[in-house]
Amino acid sequence: MCGIIGKIGKVNCMKDVLEGLKKLEYRGYDSAGVAVFTDEGVKRVRAVGNISALEEKLAGTNLDGRLAVGHSRWATNGNVTEKNAHPHRAGRFTVVHNGIIENAAALKTAYFENDAFESDTDTEVAAKLLDKFYDGDAGRAIRQAQRLMTGSWALGILCDDCPGTLFAAANGSPLLIVKTESGNYIASDAGAAPDPIEVTKVENCEYAAVTADGYTVYNENGDALQKAPLAVAAGALSLDKGGYDHYMMSEIMQQPEAVRRTLEALPDSDFIGDAKEIRLIACGSAYHAGLVGARLFEAVRRIPARAEIASEFRYADPIIGRETLCIFISQSGETADTLAALRLAKEKGAPTLSIVNVPGSAIATESDRVILTQAGREIAVATTKAYSAQLAVFYALALGRSEALSRLPEAIYTAIAENDGKCRRLAERIAGCRNIFFIGRQLDNAVSQEGSLKMKEISYLNSQAYAAGELKHGTISLVEPGSPVIATVTDPAILSKTMSNLHEVKARGAFTIVITTRALAPGLEADVTLTVPDVGPMLAPSVAVIPMQLMSYYTAKALGCEIDKPRNLAKSVTVE
Ligand code: F6R
Repeated sequence: MCGIIGKIGKVNCMKDVLEGLKKLEYRGYDSAGVAVFTDEGVKRVRAVGNISALEEKLAGTNLDGRLAVGHSRWATNGNVTEKNAHPHRAGRFTVVHNGIIENAAALKTAYFENDAFESDTDTEVAAKLLDKFYDGDAGRAIRQAQRLMTGSWALGILCDDCPGTLFAAANGSPLLIVKTESGNYIASDAGAAPDPIEVTKVENCEYAAVTADGYTVYNENGDALQKAPLAVAAGALSLDKGGYDHYMMSEIMQQPEAVRRTLEALPDSDFIGDAKEIRLIACGSAYHAGLVGARLFEAVRRIPARAEIASEFRYADPIIGRETLCIFISQSGETADTLAALRLAKEKGAPTLSIVNVPGSAIATESDRVILTQAGREIAVATTKAYSAQLAVFYALALGRSEALSRLPEAIYTAIAENDGKCRRLAERIAGCRNIFFIGRQLDNAVSQEGSLKMKEISYLNSQAYAAGELKHGTISLVEPGSPVIATVTDPAILSKTMSNLHEVKARGAFTIVITTRALAPGLEADVTLTVPDVGPMLAPSVAVIPMQLMSYYTAKALGCEIDKPRNLAKSVTVE
């Protein structure tokens, strides 16, 4: 949450910082701001809203320079106001920050009791600490401030006395130094800088001094470190909208490729070993992928498995140990609750495996073993291709490789092609409704959870997913004449059970939609039938989720919602 960027080059770089900020906007879009070194010192401009609001404020100012920092904010401490927007300034220091300085209030009382503060943020406390400890040596001031702060931070720092150096410091929040032909960047995500030549991670308690020609990373004692750069991903999946109106649609379309690459890159290794039990721990959509994984491990491998919400798991004092394989699922690899759950599992001696999309991220680095999904960078806040890539990993782990699995990318492609138009038309009807319900049993229930989350997070319509048999135990009272009820029916063994539940809501006036396979479709009664290729019941979540994603996308579009950046959300959730 929150994106930070900075650049130092041989020529003016405001344009590059703004371009980079747009690529980081997925991390938060409550407000945005920049600070730049000019001949008259450091100047900053901040605006509530997204980067275009900032660009409007910058238009006509001619503000530019060879060293600049930028920030896009997801508010944690302090309301969404201009005074709380970054960069923050104190004395000779200007700071952009991602993370939460947990002891900011205590530091404020201890060091600045009588000082006036411009903002309500923890970041201003960091800027004030830097200024307090500054005696002409910015590195020393950073070290002293880092020693006092607790919590997580990635800081981009300008010091008024150092027009040729961009400083950076990190602890628990991602921060990368990216070398490019046109200069050197610091960024929350390497994708914010075009054509990286070399990417280096600033790790916990380290800080860096970056110049136009190079950079040095130091440890907490001020010793210069020899750091090995991370591998720069070659041939990554497209980062633009690919001609679509939104990243989300471009990413939906990239799913066949994301799944194909993930399966190709997956090592042929026994990741499950002799585990007696498996826990799959994650948040949001990644948790929904875990629901599918758990079902598969139990159904096929007959290993007791259960998916758990990371924020619950971490406080549950879970009964786990050497024989419990704990699998952590995360697109970003940064999610605070998932990371804390991983650390807890390690403390308890459980073997850990993570399934992560961002190489070098905290979860990927800290787990015993890691499987990297190859979805490429995902920009839309609502995940699609990363979820699909996670499912592909579970098929390979639980079912093993098969002819059907190798044909899955093609089936996903067909599911998109055959449902796009139908879902667009259906969305017009769904957009006018108050409550939407997704129902299914077993794997169909697991994938319905994801479909429902997709719908509510981008369209803001109230949507709920229920185990089909459970609806009548209370929630059915919300079904009104015309309420869309979307039943997923891909397993012949339980088809008639879910269809009975669909008939129950039809009898109460619901508008019924069924997602099923081509083979099962004939004879199923519903107002609308959406068909997906026959890939077998175990792989079906990967094709069934496609019409759900498309319906959600087109419903949100019909309602004029901000699809790629839904309100109140951020792409990576680095707070509890
Ligand atoms: C929903 C969505 C979120 C994430 C969740 C976990 O579309 O994207 O629910 O799945 O915040 O994030 P990661 O996977 O980065 O740990």
